[in-house]
Amino acid sequence: KLAKPAAKTLAGRHILVTAGPTHEQIDPVRYIANRSSGKQGFAIAAALAARGARVTLVAGPVTLPTPPGVDRIDVETARQMAAAVDTALPADAAILVAAVADWHVAPAMQKIKKTRDGTPTLELRENPDILATLATDPRRPGLLIGFAAETEDVVAHATAKRTRKAVDWIVANDVSGDVMGGDRNHVHLITADGVEDWPAASKTAVADRLADRIAEHLA
Ligand code: CTP
Ligand code: CA
Repeated sequence: KLAKPAAKTLAGRHILVTAGPTHEQIDPVRYIANRSSGKQGFAIAAALAARGARVTLVAGPVTLPTPPGVDRIDVETARQMAAAVDTALPADAAILVAAVADWHVAPAMQKIKKTRDGTPTLELRENPDILATLATDPRRPGLLIGFAAETEDVVAHATAKRTRKAVDWIVANDVSGDVMGGDRNHVHLITADGVEDWPAASKTAVADRLADRIAEHLA
């Protein structure tokens, strides 16, 4: 049977979503990456668009199709993602789901050869924190939502992140298992009112529930 289409409760809203990993170039043939598949972020973009929002999806390198009705901007690095997010403002809400690389390196212009002396050392430099930057921007979206990927003390770390980054909601993700790349997710929603433990569900179901909450909040 056909699923009931979501009511157009987000019509007239512009919502910004980031998704996927970033790739940070080491040399012309190598990069630093992470296990993010982009599935949760793409599902959220799809759920928001299905509710009538204008959705800008800034996507790192993933192999997923663009959800119907979503404006997609493809980027590779954290710094490109930061620039694309800045360009997409203003927005009524932003949900930063991307697993942004925390560091980049100054890339070598040529392929690093193992014939040179010794083992190469990567000197890591910190990337811009897109979420923290958005939180203090004069164009800060009225509802700012971050994800927190944790492998231990999930709720404690995520709760601290909410305060530290001055965001409204944090969706806390336990990524110690096969969440990254998988189709299911067990999250906690952390708001100023406290912590909600959402039952483990498909990434689509988590996205629908979050989109409904966002619609409720913006109503
Ligand atoms: N984030 C971001 N820009 C970064 C790093 C993270 O926008 N350079 C966002 C993510 O999209 C996510 C939130 O910040 O919404 C939290 O990301 P996470 O990696 O869990 O937190 P960090 O602050 O980077 O802390 P750590 O990786 O040390 O746990
Ligand atoms: Ca991080």
